Amino acid sequence: VSAETYELFSKEPPSGNLGFVDPKAKTLQLTVAGHDLTIHQSPTALSSNRAGGTTGAVLWKITPVFAEWMSRPENLFFASGVLSSQSSVIELGCGIAALNGLVLAPKVCRYVLTDQPYVAKLVEQNIEENFGVLSSKPASGVRGSKTLGRKMKGGAHDYPTPLLTFRELDWETDGVDPSLTGGDALRSFDAIIACDCIYNEALIEPFVQTCADICRLRVVDHAGMPPTLCIVGQQLRDADVFETFMNRFSRDFDIWRVPESRLVEGLRSNSGFVVHVGRLKNPL
Ligand SMILES: C[S@@+](CC[C@H](N)C(=O)[O-])C[C@H]1O[C@@H](n2cnc3c(N)ncnc32)[C@H](O)[C@@H]1O
Repeated sequence: VSAETYELFSKEPPSGNLGFVDPKAKTLQLTVAGHDLTIHQSPTALSSNRAGGTTGAVLWKITPVFAEWMSRPENLFFASGVLSSQSSVIELGCGIAALNGLVLAPKVCRYVLTDQPYVAKLVEQNIEENFGVLSSKPASGVRGSKTLGRKMKGGAHDYPTPLLTFRELDWETDGVDPSLTGGDALRSFDAIIACDCIYNEALIEPFVQTCADICRLRVVDHAGMPPTLCIVGQQLRDADVFETFMNRFSRDFDIWRVPESRLVEGLRSNSGFVVHVGRLKNPL
């Protein structure tokens, strides 16, 4: 772990702000995976003093690059078959943008966005306004049971299983249980995605514990299926926070850093971002 910290932090990360895309803009225009998207965010909520934090009120820089990388056909998880159109993915700390979900939901079977409740309204709006741009799959849903009926040209579509859902999941106060999947028969996940969720030492223990508990859903319910992989993208800010995370993560997970050759330019070593993949060590 120390060698990993040394290697990553001995290169100077590019200077810049904390990692917001634009903390003052109410609306962002982004092109991701070849699609022009409009993302609404809340500078007001960001600067409020909500107990429990407000960082998810705006979009963070790693996520558009991460979403672009994941969307490419040559992306290692899709190219290797770890993820496919049959896969089920959950994202932790998704923030208001829903960007990874918007880009990846059309490529998988089910994508569950999670975060604290304060992001739900803007997640809903961002899904509503952008989902049609990215996919011909017409249904999306938020807050678990609520499905957003989307009338497409040529007829109404009501899908019993929402493809893209938002569910509240607070790492510090909520337990992980199979209802996270919305009561679906598919009661576990192929991958967990988290972008820029490693920045506060106090959140590391509940974050890693949540990851481990989600991975155990698969082992308990689907013995014999490939393990849930935990894909963690982060901005390199503070060596102590990073090392605390790696020490805690490596207690429960075998960890690999995604090599340069499998990343897009915007995530390579001079970017100040890094992506690790974890596999639970002792599932039972
Ligand atoms: C730096 S933001 C990143 C947001 C988003 N992933 C992005 O890259 O734009 C960190 C995210 O972690 C979420 N978060 C912080 N504490 C949390 C907790 N206890 N439970 C669940 N999510 C939490 C925040 O709400 C926020 O969305």
